[in-house]
Amino acid sequence: MKNSVLFRKKDLGELLKKQGDVQLQQSLGAFDLMLLGVGAIVGTGIFILPGTVAAVHAGPAIIFSFIIAAIVCALAAMCYSEFSSSVPVTGSAYTYVYIVFGELVAWLVGWALLLEYGLAVAAVATGWSAYLSALLEGFNITIPKAISGSFNPANGTYVNIPAIAIIFATAFLLTLGIRESTKFNMIMVFIKVGVILLFIGVGIFYVEPGNWQPFMPFGMNGVLSGAALVFFAYLGFDAVSSAAEEVKNPQRNMPIGIIGSLFICTILYVAVSLVLTGMVSYTRLNVSDPVSFVMQIVHQDWVAGVISFGAVIGMMTVILVMSYGGTRLLYAFGRDGLLPKSMYELSKKYKTPVKNTWVFATLVAFCAGFIPLSKLAELVNMGTLLAFTIVSIGVIYLRKNKNIPSSGFKVPFFPIIPICSFLLCLFLITQLSVYTWIACGIWFVLGLLFYFAYGKKHSVMNK
Ligand code: ALA
Repeated sequence: MKNSVLFRKKDLGELLKKQGDVQLQQSLGAFDLMLLGVGAIVGTGIFILPGTVAAVHAGPAIIFSFIIAAIVCALAAMCYSEFSSSVPVTGSAYTYVYIVFGELVAWLVGWALLLEYGLAVAAVATGWSAYLSALLEGFNITIPKAISGSFNPANGTYVNIPAIAIIFATAFLLTLGIRESTKFNMIMVFIKVGVILLFIGVGIFYVEPGNWQPFMPFGMNGVLSGAALVFFAYLGFDAVSSAAEEVKNPQRNMPIGIIGSLFICTILYVAVSLVLTGMVSYTRLNVSDPVSFVMQIVHQDWVAGVISFGAVIGMMTVILVMSYGGTRLLYAFGRDGLLPKSMYELSKKYKTPVKNTWVFATLVAFCAGFIPLSKLAELVNMGTLLAFTIVSIGVIYLRKNKNIPSSGFKVPFFPIIPICSFLLCLFLITQLSVYTWIACGIWFVLGLLFYFAYGKKHSVMNK
């Protein structure tokens, strides 16, 4: 098996050599990591999902959905941290798996991640568009309905033009080589967290405990399927693990940073959900901008406006970070020969992968323009959960590989945590809808076809 073409593995030593002697400065502490994490995590998940998920799946018990999803993420996050500190090379889960399980599995994980990044960008852009409309309404500017939502003629919407526009605008920034500087990220984090705290602080005075009855209208099943959906709200923490090379004392700071940012987000999410479902009955929350919607209901229009503004700004960073991840993944595929070399080309002027950025943006913009948010979010979760299951189990194989240095962060309670993480991710996958399974199946069949028709022949491992 070991030498067969499909399972050929990359050698860590060579990868590190290729990266050259570039030593990144180890300057990030636990607090910086937490800021980075909150910056990458908080977005659509909190400004949109609590509404639909409470209305359709979990009711006020959505807080349990958030807590369950947080636990699953925390376990997977530890597995990610171990990989990123033992294998400090770019490409995230795709590269880790190339070393541990070989080419075919790596391609499939990469393919799943492409689904995650691509559709996450599309999903967040859709949410962004909803809040932009709400914000503009405040200034009496109305975006024509036909061009402000996904394809749904019954509802009078055909295409989501603002979502498409923000994706291309972000792509343009990325081609110029805009990097998220720590300062820029910090300002964004304060704006996002600020409007969330404003919502909680004002909303709490309008809570009527009667609205929390019945607390669990859809039973435990609803809570669990809700967990599989709100899982989306935590995505982005893997961005923290990819900073492993630049962290001071990673054994200590990495887990504090990751678990800390997940913890802060969980508290915020649970508080927002409690206030939201306490202010109006969960049955009324099936709207695309629930957080500002409930503020309008209680006639706090200025608060609604400020929240919409914060959401519009805050979601842009998530679009930027996720688009960045997607283009760098295409870049890694191109480098390894699994996709055409043009994905690996850098523009001479800006030193960024301009071609692949536009390819990525065009595909993603198409999805954002025509597919509704709920469908997008489910597919994103599927792609991510699949990658998590493989990374979790991969840690066990990673430890067996004697060529990999044994210093760095180690998952505690090995192998119990990786196994629990693996099982919990599998469990959440079973909670997603049949529609998502089918769509995801089609995506993987396409991936396999592409691999056998192109990647296998052109892989640089052939040399
Ligand atoms: N966690 C990110 C968000 O909620 C994807 O927008």
